[in-house]
Amino acid sequence: MDLKITCIPGDGIGPEIVAETKKVLERVAEIYGHKLHFEDILMGGASIDVHGVPLTEEAVEKAKAADAVLMGSIGGDTTTSPWYQLPPDRRPEAGLLALRKALNLFANLRPAVLYDELAGACPLKEEISKAGFDMLIMRELTGGLYFGERKTVEENGVRKAIDTLTYDENEIRRIAVKGFDIAGKRRGKVTSVDKANVLDSSRLWRKVVEEVAKEYPHVTLEHMLVDNCAMQLVKDPAQFDVILTENMFGDILSDEASMVTGSIGMLASASLNDSKFGLYEPSHGSAPDIAGKDVANPIATVLSAAMMLRYSFDLDREADAVEAAVKQVLKEGYRTRDIMSEGCTQVGCSEMGSLLADRIV
Ligand code: IPM
Ligand code: MG
Repeated sequence: MDLKITCIPGDGIGPEIVAETKKVLERVAEIYGHKLHFEDILMGGASIDVHGVPLTEEAVEKAKAADAVLMGSIGGDTTTSPWYQLPPDRRPEAGLLALRKALNLFANLRPAVLYDELAGACPLKEEISKAGFDMLIMRELTGGLYFGERKTVEENGVRKAIDTLTYDENEIRRIAVKGFDIAGKRRGKVTSVDKANVLDSSRLWRKVVEEVAKEYPHVTLEHMLVDNCAMQLVKDPAQFDVILTENMFGDILSDEASMVTGSIGMLASASLNDSKFGLYEPSHGSAPDIAGKDVANPIATVLSAAMMLRYSFDLDREADAVEAAVKQVLKEGYRTRDIMSEGCTQVGCSEMGSLLADRIV
């Protein structure tokens, strides 16, 4: 297959982890007979430095022209970086939000898995973690509070900020369908998370999710309030298969779920539209404090590339090969600094990339 992949190295550790992921993808292409065409675009701080804006129209066009987009990470230190002196719509994160909207990437898949080899890194008590867990957060990504109208006004000398949270039934239905589809291929359970005891948008969410559930008799649906879900994630994470939720709740819960694995450097994500097109990025941020030091963990980005092979290109064998290489390298005891434990061999970002590429079979 000819695969056209637009890459966004971005900021912080982004360029390093994307470079290692390309290494792994090149190896996959070599073994399985594919041809890769990479093109890099600027986004976030890297784009601000060159163009003064976090995302240009030209970059959006290049992303649209690709079969899929592979991203590293964007953003810098919010207290020290000059990027955060700019108006909010010109800061690095605004570029990512604009790209998600421009590409209509409404479905964000964030798996949170406790790897056997890394079970020791899980911050939960062993009596809880021993059950293991393997969940997927299906987060709505282009609606809700993050895309609603917002403004800050002054009324009678008092400053007032307004954010609006809107969902229409079509937005809810299309993400629910994705959630049920994927649950059907996993363990067949959807936990729909909302705040239906307070919010109208959540009450509509619940109704529409129930309508969709009727089409999936083999998938079990349960509803959970978001505050309870935050608690359940640390109390009994094994209960979850697919968590289906709106934009802001998904943002918060996916960070919590990743922390519960104890190894955020391992967690991939995919953002999909209605077709096969997707943007793939690690769940972690740009870690500016360790950028350029060759200590970052490239595995989350490599696993995001595996999701790309699976979801955008239907290359399941190749995706399996990447995931198997990750397991193999962990089994052999190689670790980057963030997941290092006694008796293992610590390697840098670039060596980890080479090891992963070598283990592709
Ligand atoms: C994420 C990030 C982004 C989001 C920010 C950078 C806008 O936190 O991908 O979870 O909230 O969506
Ligand atoms: Mg987030």
